[in-house]
Amino acid sequence: MGKVKTEYVCQSCGYSSVKWRGRCPGCNSWNTLAEERLYEPTSSPPLRTFIGESSSSPSSLTDVDTSTCSRYSTGMEELDRVLGGGMVSGSVVLVGGDPGIGKSTLLLQAMGAVAKDGRTVLYVSGEESARQIRMRAERLGVTTPGLLVWTEILAERIAEKLKELKPSAVVVDSVQTLYSSAFSSSPGSVTQVREVTALLVSTAKTLEMPLFLIGHVTKDGSIAGPRVLEHMVDTVLYFEGSSGHTYRILRAVKNRYGSVMEIGVFEMVDRGLREVKNPSEIFLAERPQGSSGSAVTASLEGTRVVLVEIQALVSPSYLGMPRRTVVGLDPSRVALTGAVLEKKAGIRLLNHDIFVKVAGGIKVDEPAVDIAVVAALASNFLDKPVRQDTVLFGEVGLAGEVRGVTQTLQRIKEAEKLGFKRCILPEDCLKTTSTMNTDVTIEGVRTVKEAIDVLFD
Ligand code: TYD
Ligand code: MG
Repeated sequence: MGKVKTEYVCQSCGYSSVKWRGRCPGCNSWNTLAEERLYEPTSSPPLRTFIGESSSSPSSLTDVDTSTCSRYSTGMEELDRVLGGGMVSGSVVLVGGDPGIGKSTLLLQAMGAVAKDGRTVLYVSGEESARQIRMRAERLGVTTPGLLVWTEILAERIAEKLKELKPSAVVVDSVQTLYSSAFSSSPGSVTQVREVTALLVSTAKTLEMPLFLIGHVTKDGSIAGPRVLEHMVDTVLYFEGSSGHTYRILRAVKNRYGSVMEIGVFEMVDRGLREVKNPSEIFLAERPQGSSGSAVTASLEGTRVVLVEIQALVSPSYLGMPRRTVVGLDPSRVALTGAVLEKKAGIRLLNHDIFVKVAGGIKVDEPAVDIAVVAALASNFLDKPVRQDTVLFGEVGLAGEVRGVTQTLQRIKEAEKLGFKRCILPEDCLKTTSTMNTDVTIEGVRTVKEAIDVLFD
């Protein structure tokens, strides 16, 4: 095979050049020229389809055969949940995350579990030697004959091997280390990453095998190199967590085979990742006893309720513009609840610095946590603790009203399971709780003022 001809094309204006240039002569922008494959005008470009076999004519949707499309478990319930109920044959999943967060560990563990089921899986690594992987696998307890490892970085060779081996699933760790011989640019460059992904995606689709691509994430949160990668794959998962904590959260940001609301929670221990079946326990583990400025809420993460602690600190400010620092919540939501407190409940926060955080480093973004923010702020301001056995949820409106939320029963059940005795919720939700059989005392409130009276009478 002769060397493929390439050219450099500006990604913003389309100017092309045979040589790389730092600045595009067409639009004067810097660093926008990327290497691209040049097709001879006489030969049509190779038909590469991202969606497997392409038929010659349109067919009725009811006639489309789905019998070959199967879903099977990765052996890790939390991962299955985020994938939408297991991996799907022919699906391509991109797993992103900061270096060292545990991406390789997660997928090696999952592949080990799949291999234990008697399937053959392939783990291709461009980052670690086979010996390193074996040592890690031993620590994780997943050394199985069906788990094949291979250190290879040439994408064409990987595609060939996949056709020959036809494994049940394949992991490529990481997409930034691979290169395609068609391009002279180095691995990790935009062109290489895109081309390598395209080749592997079409191979996986044709062979109908699930493919997991590991990708590194840059500081600004995008999968390094091109965001374009996210469009080429079926599912994008982010593995996140803060360095100070041992638990990790797997989140779907795109999923063609399931909901993007689901999260999977893991804890990094000395023998790899442990699935956390009841995340509330971790997030509440270090809750301070009897101190003001802390409130527990039941937040819905996907289909599951997680109890989290909201903490607030309110202190007199000596700055012209008081500080508003928020961690783990939407800052505008906190500003809004602060304003409602001020106007509707007479709690003067105006010349105070406000700090609000979700304990444990998890992020929550659900209107139902509003009332807990109110409770935490008011509690700290008044220096009166919220009763230890109380859970709150409800959305706060600008008129100071507490509005109903969904999944009331599920939230109360989760609170009960963790030993909470009292639940403060929007009065609107009482409709659904009237038939509920529970030991938890349920108190409905209509306004923020009422909630504060109930909490700190
Ligand atoms: P790794 O999966 O190599 O991260 P990534 O592939 O995302 O770069 O995980 C590396 C970290 O995980 C490392 O800091 C050590 C830690 N770790 C454990 O704590 N326990 C274990 O059993 C393993 C395998 C790793
Ligand atoms: Mg790794």
